[in-house]
Formats: sequence, structure tokens, C-alpha cells
Amino acid sequence: MPTVLVLNGPNLGRLGSREPDVYGAADLAALRRLLEAVAPEGWNVDLRQTDDEGELIGWLHEAADSGSPVILNPAAFTHYSYGLRDAAALVTKPGGTLIEVHISNPHARETFRHTSVISGVATGVIAGFGFDSYRLALLQVLASA
Ligand code: DQA
Repeated sequence: MPTVLVLNGPNLGRLGSREPDVYGAADLAALRRLLEAVAPEGWNVDLRQTDDEGELIGWLHEAADSGSPVILNPAAFTHYSYGLRDAAALVTKPGGTLIEVHISNPHARETFRHTSVISGVATGVIAGFGFDSYRLALLQVLASA
């Protein structure tokens, strides 16, 4: 069964209670339900979250090996993790798909959020549309599958 990995970095496990004015009031379980409703029959949405950089890098290695498309919200790692960037490149350089997503629009926020070390190796970037950033990324993954 084709699988899309939906990978979430640090503090996104706190969605629902974390800064609801920025990230909304819905949690990751609601995001999973939303994406499962969009995915057609026969597609598996594998949504994961970790606060651990090494674990997230390991999941990208898994995607590089399996060829599964990735929707990645790197959260704060976006702004400084060269290790995550290099792992993302392992997915995209051979032709795999990795879409960077953000719930908020980092460019409309603090200056340190204006830099993404991931975007340069991502297939594309969608930011600022709440959970719809993920939904739009999934539609693109499906359209290009
Ligand atoms: C975020 C934006 C990041 O700057 C922040 O560190 C996050 C969430 C977003 O989805 O808007 O944790 O990636």
C-alpha cells in the first residue's frame, strides 16, 4: 500500500494547547483524521511526531530507503538543523518528494524564523494556512504520484 509519511518535529505534540493564537486549537489527532479523510482508498497516512532530532533524521532515512513521499513540518529544527537538511536531501536528491510545511507563516514572525535550512533541498514549501498547509501538501503528493 502506498504510504505518505507526515513527519512533525519538536513541540508539535503540544498542538491544541500550544499558543492557540498562532497554531489553532486542534491537536495532532485531529490532523491525522483530516488527512485520512483526504487520502483516497488504498493510501496509508503515517503521521508521526518527535521532539528528538536523531529520531526525525532516522525517519527521513527510512523514507530515502522506501521511496515514500514525505510531508515534513520540521518545527524549530527548520531554522538551524543542518543534520535534518542533509537527511532531507537524501530523500529529494535521488528524485523523491519532500514537501516542507508550516502551520504559521514563519516569514511574518520573528526574524530567526525567516531562515529555513530545509527549503533549499525541499521539493516545495507550503506555509501559513494552518492544517490546510498539510492538506494542500497531501493533494500535491497525490497529484504527482
Ligand atoms: C512551525 C514554525 C516554526 O518556526 C516553529 O518553531 C514551530 C512550528 C509552524 O508549523 O508554523 O514549531 O514549523
